[in-house]
Amino acid sequence: MIIREALLWARRQLQASPTPHEDARLLLQHALEAGHTFLAAHSEQALTAEQEHLFRALVARARQLEPIPYITGEAPFCGLEFIVTPDVLIPRPETEQLVEGAIARAATHPTKSLVDVGTGSGCIAVVLARRLEQTDILATDVSAAALDVARRNALRHGVVDRVKFHQGKLLEALDAPVDLVVANLPYVSDSEWTALDDAVKWYEPVGALRGGPDGLDLIHRLLHQVRPLLRPNGAVFLEIGWRQGDAARQLARTLFPAARITVEPDYAGHDRMVIIDTSS
Ligand SMILES: C[S@@+](CC[C@H](N)C(=O)[O-])C[C@H]1O[C@@H](n2cnc3c(N)ncnc32)[C@H](O)[C@@H]1O
Repeated sequence: MIIREALLWARRQLQASPTPHEDARLLLQHALEAGHTFLAAHSEQALTAEQEHLFRALVARARQLEPIPYITGEAPFCGLEFIVTPDVLIPRPETEQLVEGAIARAATHPTKSLVDVGTGSGCIAVVLARRLEQTDILATDVSAAALDVARRNALRHGVVDRVKFHQGKLLEALDAPVDLVVANLPYVSDSEWTALDDAVKWYEPVGALRGGPDGLDLIHRLLHQVRPLLRPNGAVFLEIGWRQGDAARQLARTLFPAARITVEPDYAGHDRMVIIDTSS
């Protein structure tokens, strides 16, 4: 089988995917340990028997709905490639907006320290560490296995000395006030869980997804913990589910009555982020 035929074959195998072309390409790149341009420039080159065997096995996994990033071991986020394993959530494009929002905020408000709560793969903390060179960054997660992946990502992207990693619940590890709290915590409600894509339910870590009956359990607990730990003129940036805008705004309003609270949409126009800004 030559590269061009391998891609055609895989696209047919992966018809059920919304992105069969891209999936086929990423799996072939992984099997050949080659880049995009190599595939394009060598489309008539034959795969070795070993490569073809591996490629067929990878395509078979994808046909079982295993997400491509778990198969290749990598996912893009904010222009960087992150190591992912089944211990961590695959970084989502919506979360890039949370990071961009936090960076924009830090550009206009002194931000000596920040915490990324529920760091998972470390994608948020790593990008923030690269962009906010003067800010002390703490990243927490309950999962030791996730923190191990996060540390590897910090090492890969040259910020392992810039981010402190702590295993613990929410802000348990925080012993000094912070200027900025950024969190993409589990927020899938019980009713959304039943309707969630099988690929997500079967393969992504349940502890990274489910947030209690209304999805807001952890966000609620976090906001309680944040109150005494947020410096004056501080802010909290939270990712939320697209149906949680009103409930999250209400919750934030109750706990931070004097703050400016905004709910921002994602690129699809759905409520996706709550910002609590205590600056005057
Ligand atoms: C939705 S994932 C987000 C991962 C990553 N920040 C991202 O945006 O891709 C939520 C993460 O929160 C962690 N988590 C769940 N409960 C937690 C808790 N009580 N305290 C700290 N982290 C928690 C999970 O282990 C998981 O890594």
